[in-house]
Amino acid sequence: MQFLFPKEPLLFWDMLYPVQRRELPPPLNVKPVHHLFWARNAIYHGIRALGVSPGECVLAPSFHCATAIEPILKCGARVKFYNVRRDCSPDFNDIEAKIDSKTRAVLAIHYFGFPQPIREFQQLCRDHRLYLIEDCAHVLTGETDGDLLGTFGDISIFSWRKFLPLYDGGQLVVNNPALKVDIPWARNSLLFNVKVGKNILDKLTEASRSKTVKVMSRVLDVPQSLGRRLLSVSRRQGAVLSIENQSVDFDPSLTNVRMSGFSRHILRNMDIPAIREKRRINSAYLLTELKSLPGITALFTRLPEGVCPWAFPVLSAGRPGFHAFLRSKGIPTYSWSGVIHRELPIEEFPDAEFLYQNLVFLPVHQNIGEPEIGAMIQAMADASAVKSGSAASRKPS
Ligand SMILES: Cc1ncc(COP(=O)(O)O)c(C=O)c1O
Repeated sequence: MQFLFPKEPLLFWDMLYPVQRRELPPPLNVKPVHHLFWARNAIYHGIRALGVSPGECVLAPSFHCATAIEPILKCGARVKFYNVRRDCSPDFNDIEAKIDSKTRAVLAIHYFGFPQPIREFQQLCRDHRLYLIEDCAHVLTGETDGDLLGTFGDISIFSWRKFLPLYDGGQLVVNNPALKVDIPWARNSLLFNVKVGKNILDKLTEASRSKTVKVMSRVLDVPQSLGRRLLSVSRRQGAVLSIENQSVDFDPSLTNVRMSGFSRHILRNMDIPAIREKRRINSAYLLTELKSLPGITALFTRLPEGVCPWAFPVLSAGRPGFHAFLRSKGIPTYSWSGVIHRELPIEEFPDAEFLYQNLVFLPVHQNIGEPEIGAMIQAMADASAVKSGSAASRKPS
């Protein structure tokens, strides 16, 4: 699909060179951390470290991306879902009611980078002697009342590639000193590195007009297609070459693959405070502009200090085609309507069903600004006009 602007952050040469080796912000620089290919693999290894036995249960939110649920099941645990209200807040009564002798852990997701009532989660877990899994996949950095997100869970997970122009990158943070993580790391093969290198060149091509980059990117297509043929005999190498890093599947053959060295290099070269600031500016602008759009509301009406949104969620109740309409206008929006875990009994969770059907995620990444947000506002105004039958043309204030 052709979008008006990039749906993900762009990669520029100066993010590769000169080498900056910046410190990651805390808690990512101080706790034991493990860099994995994907955040879902961090959940997998985190659950194993918690020692959840087959047949024991993890309580997980009914509003989710299936990638956060599948690794729990792959560890042999069962998943029971708890109610998440229409404002994405957890229903603690429902959680309490579902705790039984088989429950070992609770998963909390800081949706879109906005903090959940994580101290309440922590207290509940203490009261019932459960582990807390803090899902920070939508958090670049963040805090709540002065404490850092990612420091509350017995384990916490992060997904760098959601915020940064990386091929791969998830992180497991272990806050509970009694836990031991044991990952039988796979060696990243030469072909894996070629695949990552090729992706970096593709990303550079997207951001640059340089002919050299384009030629280099094409040249790297050759070893890949050759390799795919030659190595079709080896299952693991085949799996590495056919990795689709945007996939929502859980591939057990990739669980022990490390985050690539290229991606770790880029991660350490990024100016994370600047990225956080840009995402906040974009979100604040959207928040202001949305006030003048009838029928379209921001899920979070405030942008608390320290929050760095991954995306900006808006509700469009009563407009079933809203998401498709925005995409048809070239706006790279997301939703979770297509990534509901197959084990969720959705009929028992009308609030989650409402969110799957109506919540649309607008991009606020660091490579967009006022013109792109203006285009989003115009498209949303057009969507309102289609609903009300009037023509709309507006300029952002
Ligand atoms: C809430 C949440 N947790 C975990 C994940 C898994 O992240 P990754 O794609 O890096 O495996 C996702 C992915 O979308 C997510 O949205």
